[in-house]
Amino acid sequence: MIKLDVNKVYKNFGGLQALAGVTFKVRGPELIGLIGPNGAGKTTLTNIMDGVYKPSSGTVYLGGHRIDTLPPYQVARAGLGRTFQVTRAFRRMTVMENLLVPAMALHPTAGRKALERRAWEVLEFLTFEHLANDYGRSLSGGQQKLLELGRLLMLDPDVIILDEPFAGVHPKLMEKIYEYIITVNAQGKAFIIISHDMDTIFTLSKRLLVLNFGELIADGDPKEVRHDPLVVEAYLGEEE
Ligand SMILES: Nc1ncnc2c1ncn2[C@@H]1O[C@H](COP(=O)(O)OP(=O)(O)O)[C@@H](O)[C@H]1O
Ligand SMILES: [Mg+2]
Repeated sequence: MIKLDVNKVYKNFGGLQALAGVTFKVRGPELIGLIGPNGAGKTTLTNIMDGVYKPSSGTVYLGGHRIDTLPPYQVARAGLGRTFQVTRAFRRMTVMENLLVPAMALHPTAGRKALERRAWEVLEFLTFEHLANDYGRSLSGGQQKLLELGRLLMLDPDVIILDEPFAGVHPKLMEKIYEYIITVNAQGKAFIIISHDMDTIFTLSKRLLVLNFGELIADGDPKEVRHDPLVVEAYLGEEE
């Protein structure tokens, strides 16, 4: 079973405390939303879970193995993948190469033929077959986000963290990303989805985590969390 344990994670940047003792567990293929006002620490938490940053203190375990000490590529190998708030599709590579290169780097012993076969499956899933030979830079912002999701699928992670997957995406592609999440979650992958799109996140997630000033102020059923006085207070003045 998927087991992710984030224990008392703190992160300081100089005098700024970006995370102040974040603790939560993921058990099995959960579908979790992570929300919080701008600057709450959502991206920092993601960067710690995937090894981009080291916590100032605290630990992260995946499947019982400590991962907060590992570099990102080893965290990916351990089974945790993420997308970036600003997409990082390789602009000078074709869509097919974008899928193959990270997968070959992560699984050097997998045969190229097998990876290519998998890449075509992923392209089919994204309905991107016709774009296979197009360059990353020729894709729209939303298509680049989908390509990043495709690259994640190539790596076959157990836990997938999506940082603002819906931001600036055309409604039609948004629907595709939504479908991607539902389908891949049903295949047994856990998701942590960061989003500002409240309607989407409340509909999609079965559990909601709320960060505010680096602290987890709520963790539970989205319907209950929504009315939690601490959460309401954190969001007062955000919308208007
Ligand atoms: N690399 C960094 N250096 C210094 N401060 C940072 C860095 N990354 C994030 N911060 C600060 O940490 C806080 C949390 O940021 P972030 O995790 O990006 O928030 P969110 O993703 O919730 O909007 C903010 O005050 C931000 O300015
Ligand atoms: Mg962020």
